[in-house]
Amino acid sequence: MVTMEKANIDWVNLGFGYYKTDKRFVSNYKDGKWDEGILTTDENVVMNESAGVLQYAQTCFEGMKAYTTADGSVVVFRPDLNAKRMYDTAQRLEMPPYPEDKFVEAVCEVVKANLKFVPPYGTGASLYLRPYMFGSSPVLGVKPANEYQFRIFASPVGPYFKGKPITIKVSDFDRAAPRGTGHVKAGLNYAMSLHAIVTAHNEGYAENLYPDALTRTKVEETGGANFFFVTKDNKIITPKSSTILPSITRRSLMYVAKEYLGLETEEREVYLSELGDFAECGLCGTAAVISPVGKIVDHGKEICFPSGMEKMGTISKKLYDTLTGIQMGRIDAPEGWIKKIV
Ligand code: PLP
Ligand code: COI
Repeated sequence: MVTMEKANIDWVNLGFGYYKTDKRFVSNYKDGKWDEGILTTDENVVMNESAGVLQYAQTCFEGMKAYTTADGSVVVFRPDLNAKRMYDTAQRLEMPPYPEDKFVEAVCEVVKANLKFVPPYGTGASLYLRPYMFGSSPVLGVKPANEYQFRIFASPVGPYFKGKPITIKVSDFDRAAPRGTGHVKAGLNYAMSLHAIVTAHNEGYAENLYPDALTRTKVEETGGANFFFVTKDNKIITPKSSTILPSITRRSLMYVAKEYLGLETEEREVYLSELGDFAECGLCGTAAVISPVGKIVDHGKEICFPSGMEKMGTISKKLYDTLTGIQMGRIDAPEGWIKKIV
């Protein structure tokens, strides 16, 4: 049980945005090695004008959350998987991977140093953790930088999508090229999605469904979350593709569906042409948690899920309650899923 004074924040009405907290972690890579790293109060980054990140977008990131549980502890959900995914991302981007054990240690340090910003239990908010890494030394020819910085900051956040089921559109833009970087968490994947998301928002949609870039017939993911679908006989389906980000929430959800709820699960290719057959559709991710999708618009064709536009479908709700129950300590977690900080 942690009793500590909390920051004066309207937790219940928090949106998903940057909020400056007290301490962040910084480690530098120079002469072929990472230094020990320190916690600092300085939220600004100063670097050379020709840094790799500024010229050729050599940057990647992660996202995870710390929660206050029902018994007042503070925990982080599966940070080892974020550490591993960032390791893989760094390798794909020719960046020196940050050691996985040090990553988890640094995450714990940042949460501990910002305990007053961990939203209280029952507010629906959490402390979002953003580890990231970038090329900090100058480059002019196209090549990887020699020096890097790894940082983690924390920001209290509320829901990414507010309230009711969302309407999304099938995007005319591509997110990830075949054999590209869609399967890793590179900043460039998000830079190229900005025009698509602004376009979607201007047209009144909450997000984009990106089809596979090669055939444009299969469902991949949205700009910031994976999909799951519920069939009319309560099977959970998630798209299989080598160009989507392997979501930790999705992997956890599929396990929970099978092992906690006894539902059949399958990861397979999902065609746009079969969307009308599903009973429920949802997005899953750290920021999105489980967000219901009520409608998908595919170039004028409306696919309305039977679960409707008012509330989450029955099975999505069960998945949501079980997964968040595990994260908030109301339901026993599988071994190794919960990293207790205090
Ligand atoms: N897909 C994309 C493109 C994302 O940005 C995210 C967010 O991290 C996800 C999926 C969900 O992944 P996770 O559940 O690991 O947060
Ligand atoms: C996350 O869920 O952590 C992400 O990185 C997605 C982004 C939309 C905030």
